[in-house]
Amino acid sequence: MNEKDIYKGIPCDKIPWIHETPPGILINLIESLAPPSSHLLDLGCGLGHYAAFFAQKGYKISGIDISNTAIKHAKQLFETKKLKGDFYEFDLCKLSDITLSPINLAYEFEVLHHVYPEYRELYVQNVCKLLAEGSYYLSICFSEKDKNFGGKGKYRKTPIGTELYFSSVKEIQDLMSQHFRILEIKEVELEGKTIPHQAVFCLMQKVKF
Ligand SMILES: C[S@@+](CC[C@H](N)C(=O)[O-])C[C@H]1O[C@@H](n2cnc3c(N)ncnc32)[C@H](O)[C@@H]1O
Repeated sequence: MNEKDIYKGIPCDKIPWIHETPPGILINLIESLAPPSSHLLDLGCGLGHYAAFFAQKGYKISGIDISNTAIKHAKQLFETKKLKGDFYEFDLCKLSDITLSPINLAYEFEVLHHVYPEYRELYVQNVCKLLAEGSYYLSICFSEKDKNFGGKGKYRKTPIGTELYFSSVKEIQDLMSQHFRILEIKEVELEGKTIPHQAVFCLMQKVKF
């Protein structure tokens, strides 16, 4: 990752990825695999809107984000909405001894493209350590097939000054299959604020190898 706190200095209404309601692809998948009261882990939870949506539906929520600004905002949002959730400021690319009560499903939405290839192995090891056998893990990150966003190539600059890494299905498959059983992997189109995004969708389960 090339920046620690991408929220510093940007007013909330100018952050390009903020939506109050999660995309249908995330809602449908979570509702089909994890009944309410299951424990969800929101990896790279940002300001906590998606976590709040699922908490309101009765899920138990934990959220992790590298950004201090994001975690403070997520905690405040839960307090305002009188919801319960546990939030941790933590860099998933660093070794840690963080432990959580058993997670049924972890999801990361538009997070992994912030993590450059050399840090991804440690990132995925950390996620794997946080999950119990049988837990599901959904990863959705930008695909190199995207033609609309940030030009061409693997590393692309964004209007807010970040540089993201755009993956191929094969890269995600090679990375994830070391630690998880891949249940489904495919290219998907995501609705964006201004233009749609092409993304790699990877649904996995932690199993004994
Ligand atoms: C594009 S935002 C998406 C936020 C949220 N998932 C959403 O869809 O609204 C990417 C998020 O990943 C977080 N992030 C990036 N690298 C991270 C890392 N190494 N560990 C934890 N969080 C990270 C960023 O701080 C940011 O909140």
